[in-house]
Amino acid sequence: MKIAFIGDIVGSPGRAMIKEHVSKLKREFSIDLVIANGENASHGFGLTQKNAKELFASGVDMITGGNHTWDRKEIIPLFDTMPILRPLNYPEGVEGKGVGFLHVRDESLAVINAMGHFSMPMVENPFIALKGCVQKLRNDGIKNILIDFHAESTAEKRALHMLLKGQVSAIMGTHTHIGTDDLSVQEGTCYVSDVGMSGCRDNVIGMEAQAPLKRFLTGLPASLDVPKKCKKIFQMVVMTLEDGLCKEAFKVRIYEGAEEMFIQKAFYE
Ligand SMILES: [Fe+2]
Ligand SMILES: [Fe+2]
Repeated sequence: MKIAFIGDIVGSPGRAMIKEHVSKLKREFSIDLVIANGENASHGFGLTQKNAKELFASGVDMITGGNHTWDRKEIIPLFDTMPILRPLNYPEGVEGKGVGFLHVRDESLAVINAMGHFSMPMVENPFIALKGCVQKLRNDGIKNILIDFHAESTAEKRALHMLLKGQVSAIMGTHTHIGTDDLSVQEGTCYVSDVGMSGCRDNVIGMEAQAPLKRFLTGLPASLDVPKKCKKIFQMVVMTLEDGLCKEAFKVRIYEGAEEMFIQKAFYE
């Protein structure tokens, strides 16, 4: 199967890029399934029902989340009615689920969403939670497994890669909004520390620069806001999976206003 993963979608500029590019790229690259992180899709904070429907209508098949999942309370009933995940390692009793399944032809793909520890809300140990979850899926005969690891620290993400490479098809980093250049396929696992956001690129992580600048220059609080006008970016990793292993991977970047689509091949070893 051929799958694609999109990192944090930020606000209406991010959703506009999804609408413009996902269905087209699905056809162009014969992609079966698209998974996207939607924790910032609704004006930078959380995900509304309307915007979730919009993303699914734009060609997204499953939506993952993170620390911002809870910014809109209306997401809670959607966990039961739409393919929307929240991080797996929230304590027992928290609404939603961290594992979802997608199907194409006679094959299944398990998607796991998990959250790191550094600079994040207090959740269960992601390494222990993921190790157990992956083992259970493999025991159940599920071979194609993609993890969205929503974490601040590249060290945590790299360590998870060391723990699970060869056991899962893909580990896709999200949360920092800034794409890293370490896309690789090792022992059949596609890995990148952060896919990077889709949204406004000429600012601070998809948000107007004024508020973060005020925070950094004065130490005073300021509310983040999605810019009304900006230059946008779209970022997506495309992967070919065979029998649970990633055989080929590349990343697509589209800069609004540029003629050319940037393709970064993965490093294989
Ligand atoms: Fe985010
Ligand atoms: Fe986040």
